[in-house]
Amino acid sequence: MSKKILVLAGDGIGPEIVAEAVKVLDALQAEGAIDVTMEEALVGGAAYDDCGDPLPAATLEAAKAADAVLLGAVGGPKWEPLHFSKRPERGLLGLRSGLGLFANLRPAFLYPQLADASTLKPEIVSGLDIMIVRELTGGIYFGEPRGVETLESGERYGYNTLCYKESEVERICRVAYDIAMKRGKRVCSVDKANVLEVTEMWRDVAVKTAADYPEIELSHMYVDNASMQLVRAPKQFDVVVTTNMFGDILSDCAAMLTGSIGMLPSASLNAEGQGMYEPIHGSAPDIAGRGIANPLATILSVAMMLRYSLDAGEAADRIEAAVSKVLDDGLRTGDIMSEGMRQVGTAEMGDAVVAALRA
Ligand code: NAD
Ligand code: IPM
Ligand code: MN
Repeated sequence: MSKKILVLAGDGIGPEIVAEAVKVLDALQAEGAIDVTMEEALVGGAAYDDCGDPLPAATLEAAKAADAVLLGAVGGPKWEPLHFSKRPERGLLGLRSGLGLFANLRPAFLYPQLADASTLKPEIVSGLDIMIVRELTGGIYFGEPRGVETLESGERYGYNTLCYKESEVERICRVAYDIAMKRGKRVCSVDKANVLEVTEMWRDVAVKTAADYPEIELSHMYVDNASMQLVRAPKQFDVVVTTNMFGDILSDCAAMLTGSIGMLPSASLNAEGQGMYEPIHGSAPDIAGRGIANPLATILSVAMMLRYSLDAGEAADRIEAAVSKVLDDGLRTGDIMSEGMRQVGTAEMGDAVVAALRA
């Protein structure tokens, strides 16, 4: 039976990169490798401009009804002056919480062809393959109370709350341990247990949950050290499991190890295996509309979608092989450009992936 994909292009470079990912899906569909129907809807700034709401009820309903969601990116300077509740980012966060997408997988994998594109020395990053498992529906992003108030003194007081239930920690740890069992069986739980009680509890739950996984080698690291270790010796990591905000920050850092943030895909999954798939980068307002954004993170997010939500692992493998082939052929968008390579734009990169897929 045909699987339903909801396509949410979003803002900035979102529509440009999503168009290339859709080309890849169309190519697989045309040859009968997958059976999907795609529907489009608005989210983020685009949705606000249309109806004054960054997450229209119809979009959330369509997302719930879909087997998988493909999202570009949301946000941009145009919408920054808006009230917090109307900002594009609320649309994305509303989708994550509305669908219960608590497990965010962000694989930092270095294509060997890009060892020169990283700002780190090739020997530091070659062979890099880390899976960051980021908790996505809890922590300081969603904790209550939150807000900004004006005190009697007249000055403003702003606050957010970092909080987790044990069950939320346990389920994300289980996701990380299950993934690690299929990889190097090593998990590093990143916290700030020396300062924050809630992450001391996180560490305790991580240890207790690991009792069910005797083969997993669990280690712990404070987040400040983890950020340093990621650039000092990133290959020491196999699977990293961490809180919502720490995972947000560490994954941008890890992206640069792979050459560019334009290379890092993600999957956000709920307990039912339904998922939303998006590059980890944002709407890149500085390059939007110029046709130069790297579409590979979005195309690789489609591969994750096929693997995790659409039961089409073979087609996923083919997409990843096609990306590798295009890199072998020396094609590079500006963000991963290096000497002797051929610089191409967003659409040419997408077309090349499709051609490699068909070859
Ligand atoms: P960003 O990730 O959009 O951009 C950071 C830098 O990386 C920019 O220089 C940009 O040009 C570059 N970059 C990002 N993606 C690229 C690609 N595919 N190819 C080439 N270069 C790329 O982060 P930012 O500038 O901090 O945020 C811009 C807007 O995006 C903000 O409104 C922010 O809230 C939003 N944002 C959205 C998401 C999302 O939708 N998931 C993620 C992060 C940021
Ligand atoms: C990401 C983004 C989002 C986050 C923002 C846009 C809400 O940075 O997907 O990494 O902080 O989770
Ligand atoms: Mn981020």
